[in-house]
Amino acid sequence: MTKFADIKGFVFDLDGVITDTSVLHGNAWHQLADSLGVSWNDDLANGLKGISRMDSLEMILKAGHKENDYNQEQKVALATQKNDNYVAEVNKMTPANILPGMKAFLDDLRAKGYQLSLASASKNAPRVLDKLQLADYFPKVVDPANLTHGKPDPEIYTKGAQVLNLDPAQCIGVEDAAAGVQAINAAGEVSLGIGDAHELAAADMVFADTASVTLENIAKKLG
Ligand code: BG6
Ligand code: MG
Repeated sequence: MTKFADIKGFVFDLDGVITDTSVLHGNAWHQLADSLGVSWNDDLANGLKGISRMDSLEMILKAGHKENDYNQEQKVALATQKNDNYVAEVNKMTPANILPGMKAFLDDLRAKGYQLSLASASKNAPRVLDKLQLADYFPKVVDPANLTHGKPDPEIYTKGAQVLNLDPAQCIGVEDAAAGVQAINAAGEVSLGIGDAHELAAADMVFADTASVTLENIAKKLG
């Protein structure tokens, strides 16, 4: 079992961890689902967290038994429509949209010499980091465009450790999504979940909210 003293780096998810863009993603998908006549519910919304753009669209179409109603070109057009709505909301973001405690946590990690990388499934991650004025904190970003598999596959978290030249066991992966926690665990990193303890039961440690994620509290849980 990894000890706190073994930890050298943190591999961060973005949406729902550093900022509440998971709500914006959810709203934009909800709007698209409504326009397609697919009924929306919390299970569908939660299941989409951490899932890539095209896989999310497939999940929505499947939920409405419409997966065979559109060809690839039409699916790309639907995903683009959702993304345009999402980006319009992202463009309104400011550093005030950083979730409570996260800026202080990132500052503390930097001050104490931990290495940081970003393992977000979002192709909009650089734009979001820019809006939050956090791009400097994450010089190492895994590009989701180069992935073979999305979360829950471990690939993105494996690469998140690789770009830091660290062994996965020296890293803590930080997630709000069940699919992301699964990916961290499969990559052999320590999983830190933020959100509902039941939903994130597979995580090595769960914090109810971002404000309680501090090095002190992590050390207490990891021992
Ligand atoms: C993840 C979000 O971080 O990125 C998902 O949790 C989103 O909701 C995925 O679908 C892909 O994002 P984008 O910005 O590339 O469409
Ligand atoms: Mg997330």
